Amino acid sequence: MCGIVGIVGQQPVSERLVDALKRLEYRGYDSAGVATITEGALHRRRAEGKLVNLKTRLKEEPLSGTIGIAHTRWATHGAPTECNAHPHFSDGVAVVHNGIIENFAELKDELAAAGAEFQTDTDTEVVAQLLAKYRRDGMGCQEAMHAMLKRVKGTFGLAILFQDDPSTIIAARNGPPLVIGHGDGEMFLGSDAIALAPFTNDITYLVDGDWAVIGKTGVQIFDSEGNVVTRPRQISMATAHLVDKGNHRHFMEREIYEQPEVVARALGHYVNFIDNRVVPVSDGFDFAKVASLAISACGTAYLAGLIGKYWFERYARLPVEIDVASEFRYREIPLSPQSAALFISQSGETADTLASLRYCKEHGLKIGAVINARESTIAREADAVFPILAGPEIGVASTKAFTCQLAVLAALAIGAGKGRGTVTDDEEQALVKSLTEMPHIMRQVLNSIQPKIELLSRELSKCRDVLYLGRGTNFPLAMEGALKLKEISYIHAEGYAAGELKHGPIALIDENMPVIVIAPHDRFFDKTVSNMQEVAARGGRIILITDERGAAISKLDTMHRIVLPSVEEIIAPMIFSLPLQLLAYHAAVFMGTDVDQPRNLAKSVTVE
Ligand code: G6P
Repeated sequence: MCGIVGIVGQQPVSERLVDALKRLEYRGYDSAGVATITEGALHRRRAEGKLVNLKTRLKEEPLSGTIGIAHTRWATHGAPTECNAHPHFSDGVAVVHNGIIENFAELKDELAAAGAEFQTDTDTEVVAQLLAKYRRDGMGCQEAMHAMLKRVKGTFGLAILFQDDPSTIIAARNGPPLVIGHGDGEMFLGSDAIALAPFTNDITYLVDGDWAVIGKTGVQIFDSEGNVVTRPRQISMATAHLVDKGNHRHFMEREIYEQPEVVARALGHYVNFIDNRVVPVSDGFDFAKVASLAISACGTAYLAGLIGKYWFERYARLPVEIDVASEFRYREIPLSPQSAALFISQSGETADTLASLRYCKEHGLKIGAVINARESTIAREADAVFPILAGPEIGVASTKAFTCQLAVLAALAIGAGKGRGTVTDDEEQALVKSLTEMPHIMRQVLNSIQPKIELLSRELSKCRDVLYLGRGTNFPLAMEGALKLKEISYIHAEGYAAGELKHGPIALIDENMPVIVIAPHDRFFDKTVSNMQEVAARGGRIILITDERGAAISKLDTMHRIVLPSVEEIIAPMIFSLPLQLLAYHAAVFMGTDVDQPRNLAKSVTVE
């Protein structure tokens, strides 16, 4: 959350800083700001809301200067106002920050008692005030930086300008990622390599505890003790090309329609389409040799993991512990080195997922990561990386990353079953054959369900609450359907295991609450139909998402049906995701919400 960029350049920087921020807007879009040094003084422009507002502000009042820092904010402490927007200034110091200064209240009291006057409600301002105080006390810039880092607790990616050192940016990392870009007579700093891609692909990642003094021609990196350290330079694969919406209204729509193609690409990495076999994946991670698997992730990635649990347990007979990462890391789970841990993350930077990874690492577990961003921190810290190859996902609500995560988890579970002797050769071929047919079926579904979906989503857009029900892998899918709807349309929605209906949610059912039932004709169909009867008996409005076999035998008079092709159970979650994504998308479009950048959300959550 929050995106940071910095340039120590030869040419004016403000326009380039804002262009780089555009690439980081997925990290937050509550406010944005930029600061430069010109004629020996710090100057800044800030604006509430999306980056476009900052651009307008800069047009009205341009900012010169060949050194600068900039920030796009996802508010944690303090409302998303211009006053709370970064960069924060204090007496010749400018600070942009990603993360949370956990002991800010204590520091603020201390500084206020010594006469400091705070201008904002943010935690970040204590960094600027502390640095300014240390400078007034006579410390040099680096000395002040070192002293400040000893006082602050919490997580931070920081970029700092000192007015009286107009040729240097000082940066520090503890938690949120920071990458340094080496240019030709210019140096760059960013929250990720994608932000720096138009400038350079020659990069160095800072590690936790590092701080760096960046000048025009190079960087000096220190560890937390102030020792000079060397971090490897590498060539980033991040592309400078910004993905556009193509013929679609929103990135989310484009990403939904891209799924057949990207899922095929992801599968191509894990299965052989010719002989329908899984391809052995990684030397660093052998599912056959582990006693159990611990999966941990957040948001949509967690729900993909939950579906993965059903598959690993069913096909590989491998017991799986799964939890949302924010609980996993504090649950004090007894972990044995005979277990392995699998982390799922699109961005590879989610703070809780990363912390869970490190916790498992400390306990001696082998670490696997199902990741989209190949150069992310989680990818770099894992023993084995399982890429999902979804390409950049711009829409904040995850769609193609989810189905690619599922495709990869399905292939891994089949491979694990093969390795553990619980899946025979014939079963492997049958399962893989279903996977290879999936992209084609996805395309068919996407081409055929649009009119029905538009009709239903218009209905949904008028509702206050929606319930989603499913059994087996359709239970996590029900939660994902509900999550998609609430994320982008702000309609309250809950996903429940159909069997749990009578243990609470049934009390909510009346003619105003649609109940979306995900029920392909699988092992659970009859039971789910019974739950549907319970809803119908109470006047509930049912939207049944089923397949041709289910539609043929379900006699129930439902409000509406969405009928998909009958498919094998292993691919049903990916196929049935499509109507759920489209329902949420069209409901949001009808309601006129900001589909790609829904309120209060961010795509990369680097705070707890
Ligand atoms: C945020 C995003 C979700 C995403 C979750 C986990 O909440 O809005 O779309 O599923 O973070 O992100 P990750 O990058 O770890 O998959």
